[in-house]
This record gives sequence, structure tokens and C-alpha cells, in this order.
Amino acid sequence: MGGQRIGIVGSGLIGRAWALLFASAGYRVQLYDILESQIATALDELREELQQLEAKGALRGNLTAAAQFELISGCTQLKELVQDALHIQECVPEQLQLKRSLYAQLDDLLEPQTVLASSTSTFMPSLFSEKLKRRSQILVAHPLNPPYFIPLVELVPAPWTTEEAVERTRLLMLTLGQRPVVLRREIQGFATNRIQYAILNEVWRLVSTGIISVADADRVLSDGLGMRYALMGSLETAHLNAPGGVADYFQRFGGEIAAVSATYGPTPDMGAEAETLAEIARQCEELVPLEALPARRAARDEFLTRLAELKRQFP
Ligand code: NAI
Repeated sequence: MGGQRIGIVGSGLIGRAWALLFASAGYRVQLYDILESQIATALDELREELQQLEAKGALRGNLTAAAQFELISGCTQLKELVQDALHIQECVPEQLQLKRSLYAQLDDLLEPQTVLASSTSTFMPSLFSEKLKRRSQILVAHPLNPPYFIPLVELVPAPWTTEEAVERTRLLMLTLGQRPVVLRREIQGFATNRIQYAILNEVWRLVSTGIISVADADRVLSDGLGMRYALMGSLETAHLNAPGGVADYFQRFGGEIAAVSATYGPTPDMGAEAETLAEIARQCEELVPLEALPARRAARDEFLTRLAELKRQFP
């Protein structure tokens, strides 16, 4: 790994998180941003964050915070960032036109050995790579926030992405201690948001019809299903829940699952349902006032570190 270079385009929230992850595994990381001042701010904050992680015993990898910081530098030229890079991770704001024009620029600079991955949460890779010469080297590598504490990365190829590019990115993610999953073809929402939205839709319906409060709907996940799902997924959970495993489970309960599912009703349009939205916001803010959000986020991240530790002990 010694000396292999990673380029990060966009040094905001997610670009910084990737910088920490790559440096933790010993890669040399260069951070680029359209705003030069943003690079300096990112470097200052990264140094401080590394020191804090080290002080809390939460630093990843085998190197000290100072040694990890040494591996990270700023870069003001896209051309320089791309030169001899093993991997480029794009982390610019979620705007399709912006991504398209950036990828067109990168297309002229990208070398044949470099994989270019987008952190996008919503755009299928074909939307910004179709017309490019280097399109077979481009895919999505979508992290979950905060990536330092949540290991999942979704790898999503466009129809023209080579298997080699996907496999190289998968192996690269493993060297960081992240847990990549591979979608065989692109689909809107990838896997994570499709599943997350299915949950949000039903929670919304249950709250909007007055069947359950916001606090209790959330506790169904945090005190119930989420306890299992922190350790294993929904299919392994089903597999463990019937004497004859998953086939037995669906033979026993498939009819009931279909009957309940038939009562779900239409997909809510959450932004447009003003009354429900106001009520959900009111109840959420009663639980966590807006001014308390940063502290609540910090508490979540701290406990995620401890949860990650515990999960490592689970076979
Ligand atoms: P951000 O707004 O914090 O950072 C974006 C950075 O890109 C800024 O520093 C900005 O100056 C820079 N930038 C803008 N145009 C640029 C250009 N043409 N070239 C280079 N840099 C440019 O955004 P954030 O939250 O880090 O999101 C980045 C990407 O990560 C988005 O695609 C987003 O969907 C994805 N993502 C975000 C997550 C989140 O929770 N925020 C989670 C997972 C993925």
C-alpha cells in the first residue's frame, strides 16, 4: 500500500470522511476542492478530528494520528490530483449538472489504471458517465453517514463498468476495514435507500393515521427490530425464526406477510402532506429540540464506535 495515492474531489463532509478512512489504512491522500479556502479548512479540521479520535481511543488503523495526518495533503489542480492515482473518490454536492461537468473534465485527465468512484447517494452512475471515454472505469461507491463509524459501502456499476473496476474497488474498501456490498446492476435508490424508504413509508402511514406516536414508531426500530438488525439482516433473522430455516419461515408466514402487505395503501408524498409533516416535526422536536441536534449526533457517533467494537466480537 505504501505510497499508493488516492485523490478526493470535494472536501466537504463526505470528502473529509473518506480522507480519514484512506489515511487510516496508510494511503497517501490528496484533497481537492473548487474553493481553495475549503481545502485549508478541511486540513485544519482533519488534524483536530484525528487528535480527538486518538484521545478517545477511537482512531482506526495502526498509525498514530500524527502519522495519519502526514499522509493527507491539499491539491489545487485537478490534473495533479488525477496523475498516478490508484483511485479517485468524487464527493461534490448532489447536483446532476455539476457532477456531469466535473466528470467531463475528469474524463480527459483519467489514466487507464485509475478507478473513479462517486459518493452520490441518489444518482445512478449511467446518468453522469454514459458519454465518457473512460466510462468503463467509473462506478458509484456510496457510503453511509458517518462513514468512519458505519462500515457499509454500496458499489453500483453502470451497464458499461468493468467487473475489474468493481472488484478493485471492493478489495480497496476491504483494506480500509469498510464492508462493501455489490449491486449487480444499477437501480434507483440503490439497495440501502430502497429499504430505508420502505421503512419510512410505513412509519409515515402509521403515524399519519394516528395509530402510533413518533416516539413509539421509532422505538419499534431502536428497541425492537434494530436490536436484531444490528447483528444480522432480515433474511437471516427469518432463517433463525423457524425450526426449518428460511424456507419453513416463508411457508408458514408468507400468506400473513402478503395479507398485511396488501393493506399498506399508497406511497405518501411526504413533502406535500403539510399537516402530517408539521405533526411529525412537532413530535420529533419535542424529543430532540433543533438546538440539541449537534449534541445528539455526537452522542450517536460515540455510541456507534462502541457498537462497532461490540459487533466485531460477534462471529
Ligand atoms: P458538502 O456540501 O459537505 O461538500 C461538497 C464539497 O464539494 C464542498 O467543499 C464544495 O466546495 C466542493 N465542490 C463543489 N463543486 C466542486 C467542484 N466542481 N469540484 C470540486 N469540489 C467542488 O457535501 P457532502 O455532504 O460531503 O456530499 C458530497 C457527496 O456525498 C454527495 O454526492 C452526497 O450525495 C454524497 N453523500 C452524502 C452523505 C451525507 O450524509 N452528507 C452520505 C452519503 C453520500
